[in-house]
Amino acid sequence: MDFRRFRGRDLLSIADLTPEELRFVINLSLDFKRRFYSGERVIPLLQGKVLGLVFQKHSTRTRVSLETAMAQLGGRSLYLSWNELQLGRGEPIKDTARVLERYIDGVAARVYRHKDLVEFAEYARIPIINALSDLEHPLQAIADMMTILEKKGRIEGLKIAFLGDGSDNVLHSLLLASSMLGARIYIATAPGYDPNSEILKRAEEEASRSGAEIKIVRDPIEAVEDADVVYTDVWVSMGQEAEREKRLRDLSKYQVNAGLVKHAKKDYIFMHCLPAHRGEEVTEDVIESPNSVVWDEAENRLHSAKAVLSLLLG
Ligand code: CP
Ligand code: NVA
Repeated sequence: MDFRRFRGRDLLSIADLTPEELRFVINLSLDFKRRFYSGERVIPLLQGKVLGLVFQKHSTRTRVSLETAMAQLGGRSLYLSWNELQLGRGEPIKDTARVLERYIDGVAARVYRHKDLVEFAEYARIPIINALSDLEHPLQAIADMMTILEKKGRIEGLKIAFLGDGSDNVLHSLLLASSMLGARIYIATAPGYDPNSEILKRAEEEASRSGAEIKIVRDPIEAVEDADVVYTDVWVSMGQEAEREKRLRDLSKYQVNAGLVKHAKKDYIFMHCLPAHRGEEVTEDVIESPNSVVWDEAENRLHSAKAVLSLLLG
């Protein structure tokens, strides 16, 4: 595939990529990882380029992987806390976007409202990358698919069980990516927590082309039965703190614990985008078990960030 087709594009949703492009990004991520371990830490594809990180919420993995990826690609990054920019004092997003594009080569933004990201992208002519919104987390899904491919040797036909909040941003991107790549994704969640209807519709369209299967179930065992991958995320995402008690009550049945994972395949892998809340969506014994790949998954955020940045900003 000609890498020039990616140049200058935004990445707001994982579905901004075609399935072929997604496969290409995943393979390039694996390639960056191989090169990293053969001693090529610095590959100066983005010399002189600057990425701005406009963040409204906390971050460990996304911030550090993007900043390190820029450094290892020979570029630079600027961490721009939303509140410290004039945005925090009410300067419109559309004005900020048109100013930042005059200085820097791309923006990775972490926002509460996905529509703010869409507005940013509408007004800025530089690539805008979704570093997590209330709707999606495409950078996470790329690293997740890379991790599954690395651990299982394939994605197509695998059974992925997601347990917990079915309206979760990380799940939305995972659902789209799984549908694009022909996996079988079972989402076990409570009534009232089903995926966003537009995301689900798009995922179903992708699935009809790829042969993927999508199932929303209420019974956690049905989802985990014979699963190759067991995935969960927090029950209370950033910005949902006021609903904490209700969410904990509603979702407690979907905890990933030793009793539940007994139903998965023996060689299943446990995944979590992190940060994890032990004792809530996952128990200590599962996240610390030999089946857990969460640290490799987190590491892969770095290698896949290099793939995304080198393609969009290169
Ligand atoms: N998984 C993830 O995006 O982590 P951070 O919130 O630490 O960036
Ligand atoms: N769903 C979580 C993901 C954090 C990476 C949140 O939005 O807080």
